[in-house]
Order: sequence, then structure tokens, then C-alpha cells
Amino acid sequence: MFANNHIKLDSIDSTNSYVLSLQKRGVLKEGLVVTANYQSGGNGQRGKTWESNINENLLLSVVIEPMISISKQFEISKIVSLSICDLLTFLGLNPEIKWPNDILVSKQKIAGILIQNKLKGNLIIHSIIGIGLNINQMHFEEYSPKATSLQLLLNKKSEVDKVQDELLQFLSVRLKQFRSGYSYEEEYLSSLFLKDKPAAFESDNQKFMGIIKGVSQSGKLFIQLEGDSIVSYENQEVKYLF
Ligand code: BTN
Repeated sequence: MFANNHIKLDSIDSTNSYVLSLQKRGVLKEGLVVTANYQSGGNGQRGKTWESNINENLLLSVVIEPMISISKQFEISKIVSLSICDLLTFLGLNPEIKWPNDILVSKQKIAGILIQNKLKGNLIIHSIIGIGLNINQMHFEEYSPKATSLQLLLNKKSEVDKVQDELLQFLSVRLKQFRSGYSYEEEYLSSLFLKDKPAAFESDNQKFMGIIKGVSQSGKLFIQLEGDSIVSYENQEVKYLF
């Protein structure tokens, strides 16, 4: 599915922005893969930037045509998160998904996902899935959560192109399963970081304890509060304190 349409860039501001610029020219197609050795202005979630040393990590954007309602948009995030977990498990690691879009190993962030959807009415016609996966970088700036890489975890270098091909393979399999009606709910919940564990959060400048219970189809996080009420939070509304 991702084998025949690959644009390899040496340097670009952001692979996601590059794909978005192709959309304006009407050439976006499912299966398009764009990779870069370096991004001068990589985009992260919540308006942050994504840092990556030249040639050391995977910087990838892929295009799919989900044709699902915007109300189910989080299904795409689940598919992508689980594909990255498949890859990391295959490489011998124990990944967890930190809602909404981070992949952690030992509480450290190894990958981030940035999904940008293009709509026609309520229908998602294109999803630009941006993935940053740290592979051979050994030093990172101070982030929260702390960043890590395959090399830091496995004590050996990996070939970026090989890891990229393996990831695209896992993603193709997950997408096919999804389209044949397979539900990822259980698998997703069992990989969800801090699920069913008392943890500290912050929302509206208030710190509180709660227990993650699940995620809605549209992507809201369900947290059970003291007193057992369950409150749902949008992406920007709640922060983990760990
Ligand atoms: C995050 O903040 O965790 C999301 C990071 C997503 C980074 C990737 S790198 C490839 C693609 N192009 C971008 O500009 N961002 C995504």
C-alpha cells in the first residue's frame, strides 16, 4: 500500500507541511509517503516543534483516504499508535500509548504522531499522518516526557530505511484490518499508559488525582475522579503530571 509513491527529501521545513502543499495542487493520493533526512521546522502537537538531528531519525508523512466521519477521527490515531507499538514490540521493546499521540517506552517518549485531516462535509477524505520516531539520536533537549531513541534503548544503531519499511508494513496490515471491520478498542486500551492506575493530572490550573478509564471515538479521555464520577477531556484540556 505504501510501496509505489515515495518522495525522499534531503531537507524540508516539515514533511507534513510539504504534503499539505501538494494538496493545494490536487495531487494527494492514498499511499503517498514523504520522508526527509532533516526538518528545519518540524511540527509537533499543540503548536510545538519537533527536533531531530540530521539523518538520525525517521521523519515520515503518509497519506490515507479514511472516508470515515469526523466523529470517528480518533480511530486513525489508534491505528497509527498501534502500528508503532507493533514495530517496537517486534524490536523487543514494551511500548505504551500516552493519550493522545505519544508512544512511550519506560515512560520516555520515543515517537510522536501528528495527524492533519482534510474534510469534505463531515467526511475525512485525506489524513496526513506525520510520525517522528527517534532511532539513532543519543542526546535530546530537556522535554517532558523525556525523549529516548531505539539506540538508547537497544544499545545498537538501526538502519533508518529498514525501520521505516517495517513500520509501513505494520501500518498497512492495521489499515487493512480496520477496513475489514476489526475493532481496536481492547488492544488500544490494554496499551494505554496509566490506564486503571491512580495518577495526577492538571486541568484549568487545578491539580487532581484520577484514573484513566478509556477514550471516546472522537478522542476524548475519560478520567474517573475521586467520588467515582467520570469526566471527559479534550486534547488541550488536561495535562499528565508524572
Ligand atoms: C508530537 O509532538 O509528538 C508530534 C510529532 C510529529 C513529528 C513528525 S516528524 C514528521 C512529520 N512532519 C512534521 O512536521 N511533524 C511530523
